[in-house]
This record gives sequence, C-alpha cells and structure tokens, in this order.
Amino acid sequence: MTKIFLTGLMATICAITMNAQPKLSATNIDEVMKAMTLEEKAKLLVGGANNFFGDQAVVGGEATLVAGAAGTSPAIPRLGIPATVLTDGPAGVRIDPTREGTDKTYYATAFPIGSCLASTWNTDLVTKVGEAIGNETKEYRCDVILGPGMNLHRNPLCGRNFEYYSEDPLLTGKIAAAYIQGVQSQGAGVSAKHFAVNSQETDRTAVDERVSQRAAREIYLRGFEIAVRESDPWTIMASYNQVNGQYSMGNHDLLTSILRDDWGFKGIVMTDWIGIRNGLPTISEVHAGNDLMEPGQPAQVKEIIEGVKSGKLDMADVDRNVRRMLEYIVKTPSFHNYPASNSPDFKAHAAITRQSAAEGIVLLKNNGCLPLNTAQSTSGEDGKKGFTVALFGENSYDFLSGGTGSGCVHPPYVVDMLEGLKNAGISSSTTLTDIYRKYIDYARIKFQAERHPAKWFQTEMMGQQKYPEISLSPIAINKEVQGADAAIITIGRQAGEGIDRDIDTEFNLIPEERNLIVDVCNAFHAAGKPVIVIINSGSVIETVSWSGYPDAILCAWQPGMEGGNSIADLLTGKVNPSGKLTMTWPIAATDHASTKNFPGSIDDYTFQMMVGNKMPIPGHAYTNHDEDIYVGYRYFDTFDKNVAYPFGFGLSYTKFDFSKPVVKVSGETVSVSVTVKNTGSVSGKEVAQVYVAAPKGQIEKPAQELKAFAKTRELQPGEQQVLSMTIPVRMLASFDEAGSQWLTEAGQYTFRIGASSRDIRCTATAKVAKYVEKTSNALAPKVKLNLLKQ
Ligand code: BGC
Repeated sequence: MTKIFLTGLMATICAITMNAQPKLSATNIDEVMKAMTLEEKAKLLVGGANNFFGDQAVVGGEATLVAGAAGTSPAIPRLGIPATVLTDGPAGVRIDPTREGTDKTYYATAFPIGSCLASTWNTDLVTKVGEAIGNETKEYRCDVILGPGMNLHRNPLCGRNFEYYSEDPLLTGKIAAAYIQGVQSQGAGVSAKHFAVNSQETDRTAVDERVSQRAAREIYLRGFEIAVRESDPWTIMASYNQVNGQYSMGNHDLLTSILRDDWGFKGIVMTDWIGIRNGLPTISEVHAGNDLMEPGQPAQVKEIIEGVKSGKLDMADVDRNVRRMLEYIVKTPSFHNYPASNSPDFKAHAAITRQSAAEGIVLLKNNGCLPLNTAQSTSGEDGKKGFTVALFGENSYDFLSGGTGSGCVHPPYVVDMLEGLKNAGISSSTTLTDIYRKYIDYARIKFQAERHPAKWFQTEMMGQQKYPEISLSPIAINKEVQGADAAIITIGRQAGEGIDRDIDTEFNLIPEERNLIVDVCNAFHAAGKPVIVIINSGSVIETVSWSGYPDAILCAWQPGMEGGNSIADLLTGKVNPSGKLTMTWPIAATDHASTKNFPGSIDDYTFQMMVGNKMPIPGHAYTNHDEDIYVGYRYFDTFDKNVAYPFGFGLSYTKFDFSKPVVKVSGETVSVSVTVKNTGSVSGKEVAQVYVAAPKGQIEKPAQELKAFAKTRELQPGEQQVLSMTIPVRMLASFDEAGSQWLTEAGQYTFRIGASSRDIRCTATAKVAKYVEKTSNALAPKVKLNLLKQ
C-alpha cells in the first residue's frame, strides 16, 4: 500500500516538474510563459551582450557565440530557449574574419552598399541579393542581419547615406521589402533600421529630430510602413535619436501606436546599441513596446524586475514583450539547430554581387566614348600590347567596396580597377601602378600612426580607409599619353557611422583631385584620347564644376567586393548601364532645403562655449525639419531649382521610347501601364518611373511624387515590353494632421511616366475618388516648426 502511495506521489511530482519545465516549441508558448519566473522573463528582454560594456555586461554568457557579431538575445536552457545571434549588416554579414586558435577564415561577401543596390530599381535582383545575404547569415550561425538601413537621404552630408537607399520613401520601402523577402526566405531574419528619423550622425544619440506629423508619416516613416506591410520583417531597430522630444527607443507613439496599431507589425523591436540611457528608464522602453534591449546590461534586468515588483511596470507589458520574443525565437535558425557550415558559397555570391553592382552603377555622362572599343588599340608599338589605359587616382588601386562603421563587411578580397580591367583583357600603365601602390603602402602606415584614438571608425576593422589623393605633375601625366588608349580616373570617398560628411573635403573635390582631372583631360584630349571618371563613393559628390572635362562619368558607388569586375563589364559594354539615381545630385551641397537645419560644422570653440553656457545647439541638441515634406526632388521640382543630376537619372548605351500610357481606376486600385521600346542598336534595360501630380485641393502637394516604377527585362534592339504597375489609392494620400488620417482628395490626377523626375515621356490622367483612412494621432511635435510652404 505504502509502495503504491509512494509511486503515485513520485509520478505526481514528476508530472508537476515536467509541466513546470516545458521545452519551447512553436505550439507551447503559453505553457512556456506560465513556467517562466519573473527573473527569466526580465532576462529574455535584455540582450546577451558581447562584452560591450566589460565583463559585467555578459548577461547570459553567450558573448562569444559568433566572434564579431553585434549581439545576442539570451538563452534560458531550462526551458529550451536558445540564444539567438544578431549580426551587422546591411551590405553583408559583419563578423570577425579570423578567430583565435584556428587558421580558418570567416570572411563574408561584400555586396553593393544600399545606395548602389537601390539604384538598380530592380526588386527581383535585390531579392536575389537578400537571399544570398540570408544564406550567409545562416551559414555563419547567425539568426538576424541588422539591416536593411532605411533612413532617408534628407541631406547629402549624412555619413551613413551609403547604407540607406534613397531620398524617396516609396523606393526605399519597395527596395527594403525586396531585400527583406530575400533574407527571410532563407529562414533568417532582418532588423529594419533605424526607426526612425535618423538622418544625421552628428549627436545621433541625443539629437531631437523635430518633425511635423505629416512629414513623419509621408517621408520618414512611409518606407518602413511599406516594408512592414509587404515583407513582415522579424525585427525592427529603434534609433538612438529622439523624435519630437521622446527617444525612439521609449517612444510609445512610434513603437506601438504607429508601428503596431496602425501598421499591424507583428515582430519584435530591439534598441540600437546603447545600453542604459540617461533619462530614459528601461522600464519605459519596455512599456513603449521595445522588446529587446541591446546590447544589454545586467542592471536593465534588475530594473525590469524591480519595476514589476514596485508596480511601476505593468506585468502585462512584460508578458506582451516576452510572448513576442518567444514568437521570434521559434522562427530562428538557432532554435531549429541549423547545422551551419561556416562556409558560404562565395563563388555563387560573387556572381550575384557582380551582377547587382553592374545594374546599380549609374552612367552620368557619355559623349560616345563608352563602351570602349577595346578591339582598336593605337597605343604602344602598333597597338601590339592591346587596349591599354592609364589608370589614375589612388582608389583605382585601393578600391572602396563599402563604407565604414557597423555597415562594413570583411570580404575575402576586393577586385580593384586594375584587376577588373585586367580580367577584361585591358592592360594598364605599369609606371602608374608602381607610383600608386607605393603611395598606398606608405599612406596606410601614416594614417594609422596619426589616427586619433577617439576615431574608432578609422581602424581597418571598421572598414577600408580613404587616403588623401596625391598630386601628379603634368609632366608625369603627359608621359602616360602615348602608351595608353584612354585614361581612367577614380575619385574615391569614404564615409560611415558616427560622423557626417564635410562639405569642403568630402562633398567637394579637393585641389589634388580637381587638378588631376583637368591635367589628365588636357593631356589626353590633346592626343584625341578619351578620359573617363569613375566615382567610387557611397554618397553624392559635387560634379558641376568639373563634369565638363571628362568624356564619360560613371558613378560606381561602393559596389561590393567584385567592384572592378562590375565596372569593367560596363566599360566594355558586356553589360549596358541601367542604374538610375535614387537621390538628387545638387549643384552645391547647400542647395537642399534641409541645409538650414542640418548640423553644420560649428567650430570647437563655439561648440564648447554653447555647451558651457547650456545653450541648445541647433543641429546637435535638436534638428528642426522646417523643410517639412520638401526633401530631395520634392523640393527641387516643386520650387523649380536647378540640379546637377535629377532624381531617377541614368544613361544607357541604347535609347528607349515610352508610349501608350494607360491608367485605369478600379475600386481602390489604380493600374498603370506603359510600353517601353528599345529603339537603339544594343540590348538594354530601362526603368519606367511613374510620378503623380495631384489636383489642387485642401492639402498642399509637391509638384509630383514617385508612386510606382518597374524595370524592363533585357530588351533587344527593336523589342518592346508593356510594363504594368498598380498603385493603391491609399498611396496617393497625404497625411491630414487635423483629422489624423490619410486623405486622398477626389479629382483628376496626372500620371507622368518617364526616365527621371525631369525626363517625363508621356502622361495620362484619371479621376480618383476620395479616400480616407483614420490613424492614431501620434507624434505631435512639442515645438512650433517654421514649415516651408509653396
Ligand atoms: C548602429 C547600428 C548597428 C549596431 C550594432 C549601432 O551603433 O547604429 O546600425 O546595427 O551599432 O553594431
């Protein structure tokens, strides 16, 4: 009897214990939550840190899961909850390329940077890139890539524009959705960042971005909205800055009212990498809808526990976030014990990066010298050495594949211009190679020796550095003319996280570069030989003062590790350029309406004085978005300002004709179609861009806005394709602040279809009925802004 009783008791205890310790599965989240202690719940909401703040920061001991990854979410082994690994992005997986105790290397493919990828205007191709990135994320045992970078190019001087896509929210949203679909199709996740209004690096962790509700919704948030609705990102990263007086990370309006209530976001929100914030309790971040504190500090776990115990933090908020974390975790490769190979298929991914870069590179000028006629060489002795170029500019030999900071990638190699041309059968001047190679070796050592320790982003681990251009005398340049068929000059620019760009030395050309262009053009043109300039920069530079000199200009961006090959494909005509600018190239950096409120360079003395006197520094303490919705072409086209190259611009080696525009409204959808015909003599692709001009109504509208786009397949000479696009009527709406609603006013809309915002080839009109969509009344500015009006 006693024996039976004891056996029964044991069985009951076992059952209780087993019930108390369920192992996480996709179907038992409720059960696991019931079994979790408050301590475990709090722990799950705080990142596992990677020694970011010293040893004390390692919450779960997962610090070294993948060397060089940015962070983790913590494991709770008792309940079968694995740690997950978060790695930067967005142009590829950023982990340490080498590890102690092994000769094995962990390089990752460097794909084209954001501006280059977006310049393809080819969502299918971007999805392919996303697939390859998702695959590398998984093969390196990571769960989430911290990208895409989706902030808007509000001003050309933002240091991180290279990571971001465009000055236009629709293009940003569509390209991001394509990238996210690609990554997530592989079973890895993304973190779309930085949510939101993080369009400057200066004082990014403190600055208050003050913006009207309209500009917030229509410009800065719209790309995120499109990405959330169309691609369901696993995670979103809240930015460092404040939006209208409240840090994004603790901004309930942003993270809950807009993101979840208005848009239906289902994933998790994580913080950007800051730990404990001054003046922003972790518990208010939890309440606001921030599910994961990164990189995570033990004090934050403690604060959450104490917050619940003292009643300052509602247990329901904690439970809500914990549930979202568990829903995220069951999707991850770590949860599924994915057998990572640590050996991605570099060959296959190199082909993808080469192709996507070639489609993202933009031909800005061509007087007919491109594609190069490499069959005809007049250089050297009777042209015997084959087509030869004189290759100028230090970045020809030290090609920049990507930017610096967390957005850099450590690739196994970078194909520079010299190698790319060689692979295409084009020789280069050995004298110049020798001069530049020696200079680069010297410059590298000098740069590191002189680096200020505070400039963490200027180390090789934070990406390739840019060394100053050298002067070459006209005599040395002249010596190169006879032995070459053409000259190529690469003008390089580097930029990245933590610092905005300088107008004088980073937007404008420096005297050495300007002289190089002028002297090379004079020398080569005197002999009837062409000069081509390659821009190797993640962002916009000044062109008007020098673009008259060279015969052709190619904006190659920072096109990833196959850069030299991609450029050679275009120079030789193997690929016909089809990239289009995703941002306006202004004549001067200061032409943008945001200039007045973009952090200018305040000299150190003034800065210190203002800080000392506790004066709020415009552009540092706060940035007023007085230009409102007039960002990029919305400003230049509405206010009729001249530009260097308009939004959407890009040349081809062939010509396209646009005809038969058809616009039909059916219910809440507008369908637009246009016939694009290749009327030139070589095959190529073209992008049809649909700009919509709204009728006059109660809300002031920009002259036109991009509302749809589509790219043709490779069209043979004489071939045509009908491109069909749809525009939901809700996407024609403006944000009506008074009514807290999206409002499409009834009337006759004009659909202007063309090859750039200033090259409209055909138009059609359609009557659209009124459309209203109520939203939350969120993010009202706390100060009065002096908004730009027409
Ligand atoms: C950057 C993020 C990045 C994170 C982790 C932050 O400083 O702003 O873009 O993902 O660091 O490296």
